[in-house]
Amino acid sequence: MAQHEQVEQSAAPGSEWWRTAVIYQIYPRSFADASGDGIGDLPGITSRLDDLRSLGVDAIWLSPFMTSPQKDAGYDVTDYRDVDPLFGTLADFDTMLNEAHTRGIRVIVDLVPNHSSDQHVWFQQALKAAPGSPERARYIFRDGRGENGELPPNNWESVFGGGQWERVTEADGTPGQWYLHIFDATQPDFDWTNEEVREEFRGILRFWLDRGVDGFRVDVAHGMIKADGLPDYTPAADADSMGGGEENVPYWGQDGVHDIYRDWHKVLAEYDGERALCGEAWLPTLEKTALWVRPGEMHQTFNFPYLMTPWDAAALRAVIHDSLDAFGSVGAPSTWVLSNHDVIRHASRLALTADSPQGDGIGPKSKGKPDQAIGLSRGRAATTLMLALPGSSYIYQGEELGLPEAMDIPDEFRQDPTWFRTEGERYGRDGCRVPLPWNADAPAFGFNDTGASWLPQPASWAEFARDAEEGDADSTLNLYKSLLAERRERALGSGTLVWEDAGSDAVAFHRGDLHVVANLGTEPIELGADVSFVIQSQPFPGTALPPNTAAWFTRP
Ligand code: GLC
Repeated sequence: MAQHEQVEQSAAPGSEWWRTAVIYQIYPRSFADASGDGIGDLPGITSRLDDLRSLGVDAIWLSPFMTSPQKDAGYDVTDYRDVDPLFGTLADFDTMLNEAHTRGIRVIVDLVPNHSSDQHVWFQQALKAAPGSPERARYIFRDGRGENGELPPNNWESVFGGGQWERVTEADGTPGQWYLHIFDATQPDFDWTNEEVREEFRGILRFWLDRGVDGFRVDVAHGMIKADGLPDYTPAADADSMGGGEENVPYWGQDGVHDIYRDWHKVLAEYDGERALCGEAWLPTLEKTALWVRPGEMHQTFNFPYLMTPWDAAALRAVIHDSLDAFGSVGAPSTWVLSNHDVIRHASRLALTADSPQGDGIGPKSKGKPDQAIGLSRGRAATTLMLALPGSSYIYQGEELGLPEAMDIPDEFRQDPTWFRTEGERYGRDGCRVPLPWNADAPAFGFNDTGASWLPQPASWAEFARDAEEGDADSTLNLYKSLLAERRERALGSGTLVWEDAGSDAVAFHRGDLHVVANLGTEPIELGADVSFVIQSQPFPGTALPPNTAAWFTRP
């Protein structure tokens, strides 16, 4: 294997835990269900912490479990300082937090500051109050256009389909003002130019920091400030709805958001223990993404350009190179992420054909469904590569089992607002949110004792159940465990990456004496007779790395 053009790249210096952490995303409704009602809960999480310790993660991030009518699976909050009864109580939260800390696992909670639920007391007060009132000023109410205000104030399109404005009926029964919602109509956007909103959220941060959380994942961190005057905006036909591909979207990535992060950074800095903010920011470029993690702002931001990169060696080399450059230039660690609760699971996504756009989800009628075997091979190879990169990595519950996207959920079970707002045109995200299989032979595959499950689990998931995989040396679960143990042992989260050349179909580099190569092509890549394998993403004989496979190895 030729080795030239040695470009050294490092994760940013510093020893804070979040610079190198592997953070496991728990989607509480689908993780483990102690109550047996078919929806996962906090006691369920507590009961499974030993499994996460044995997996070898440093931290967990919990998607929202705060009080909510669950119109968007909890991303529509009515009480930011309490636990929804579906998930348990504040006492259950404290127990979970203490038990996690006892096991050396840090805990990050999801903060949803862009919008509340329409059932939030503030929004209910706003509906009852008059136009121009302080109650309405906490949200974004505007008069409509047209002779009688019958047209929405501008043409913005909701991420979930349809428009971003909903008209209210005033207290006297007449058609009234409109309010803005980037997402569902049940998720009105706060007005972050209002100091009262800012003060409220400082209090919410402190509430959870006082309880002992290690940080926050900040939902829609790129949407909190809208361009002055709310100008019309028409996205390009192929734009991604979260703003990933587009410059100058008047509701994404406005400069004003940085003031808010600087303010929050100071709040977190009042606390001991290296508390951290991780922003969910879908931005058009890595350079712009890096602005989110300048000193004194967020500590991390998700690397969505990396997540969105297709299975293409040149594109993957470029995004890794550019990520380390962009984040390194502001002294922040790069993060790496392949799956979460909003995207098609990467064990399916990486084998998508052009017929099935990622943003639409996959359902029974989708064309060009990904091949499951190829997807799983690529998924395992992609993770093998990711966990060798310097910086912090996120993994999403179930990917350690190699779970594919659930592609055959019947229409009547679907819950994603995207499905309803597009009248079934886009399937949305339910396929990555199906409850986890723990035991191959138990009701609901051990998700609970009752067999109830808020989304149906495919029968084929018995083979992905944790207990089935525990005993199989070549399972995806044991691959993840080996990767995480070696990563920790070799301190791969920090340090230098040196690129290697293993041909145009490979992504290749070394970290000290550890060589890492992934084969994204269609022909085997000979690694040389002298290699000694540390990890193979899937077992193969000899020294030729098969297609859709990655390996960690040393040479004498
Ligand atoms: C974020 C969440 C997503 C949610 C949306 C609205 O993108 O990750 O699940 O629907 O925000 O809160």
